[in-house]
Amino acid sequence: MRVGLLTGGGDCPGLNAVIRAVVRKGEMQFGDELVGFLDGWRGVIDGRTMVLDVEQCRGILPRGGTILGTSRTNPYKVDGGVEAVHRTLQEHRIDALIAIGGEDTLGVALKLSGEGVSVVGVPKTIDNDLSATEVTFGFHTAVQIATDAIDRLHTTAESHDRVIVCEVMGRHAGWIATYAGIAGGAAEVLVPEEPFDIDEVCTNLKKRHEKGRFASIVVVAEGATPKAGSMSLQSGDVDQFGHVRLGGIANVLAEEIEKRTGFETRVTILGHIQRGGTPTAFDRVLATRFGVAAIEAAHDGGFGMMVALQAGDIVRVPLAEAVTDLKLVDTELLHDVAASFFG
Ligand code: F6P
Repeated sequence: MRVGLLTGGGDCPGLNAVIRAVVRKGEMQFGDELVGFLDGWRGVIDGRTMVLDVEQCRGILPRGGTILGTSRTNPYKVDGGVEAVHRTLQEHRIDALIAIGGEDTLGVALKLSGEGVSVVGVPKTIDNDLSATEVTFGFHTAVQIATDAIDRLHTTAESHDRVIVCEVMGRHAGWIATYAGIAGGAAEVLVPEEPFDIDEVCTNLKKRHEKGRFASIVVVAEGATPKAGSMSLQSGDVDQFGHVRLGGIANVLAEEIEKRTGFETRVTILGHIQRGGTPTAFDRVLATRFGVAAIEAAHDGGFGMMVALQAGDIVRVPLAEAVTDLKLVDTELLHDVAASFFG
């Protein structure tokens, strides 16, 4: 069998572990020929490939990023893009295509599957906001990086008796903020799921500081918005999937906190540090399990499906289920657990 492989969307620790698993199992157990498409759907449109074999994958398990490269190209937004995808797949005699990505990449995979392409999806995103899988690889690594950062911020905040606002990724869902906030002992966690009340945030911080010399860490997801919706937070740029480039809520929030409470406030925006570097052992194992399951699905004709983690098992779910609704932070976690430590 000739199996194509691509990684699309934002990169994510664990992508190389999936590639390695697909290649090793594909080549050694099934005798497959693997074709790596470069830079996500862009490489499929342009017909740019690289050889993918066991030799090529040596040493990549602990490496962050993706040896295939990635992009946010959407073939459905490029003139002649979809026709080019079909042409490339035919020219390279691809029997099955494994697409590793988040909602955008898998949304394209779903559409192509409807047009007869034999595609299997593998869920990836540090944001952990894909439905139908309990967790995506990359999330655990991002949470660990954010938690380590919050631990460090505590000691400097305490030494100076300051508030530090720490911005983490999470465009639509506050999974990283909630997990890292709980793990790092944050005084406030602000997420996109629930617009925040700046008065409430400042009252909580004041109460906390009135109790004595208490520094505070406020963890905010980049997609969090204030209730009134009055603060301007976006750069205005959008990618081919229509997502606005975010980043900057922390600065506005910190200014507002300092103005309203009088507490000296500083900002740390973790940004792409959360996405780079070596995956945790958990993510390497999950990514490896997904890779093995994906190549098995390709051989079983499990097309139009995505591999997923459910109740500890790797299962197959229709791609449509994965991309319809985003998985948001459950209120139990946010209200009963995280909020117990606010203020
Ligand atoms: O892919 C998810 C994500 O990490 C989001 O949390 C973040 O908003 C976005 O990617 C950033 O994308 P880019 O690297 O294209 O700026």
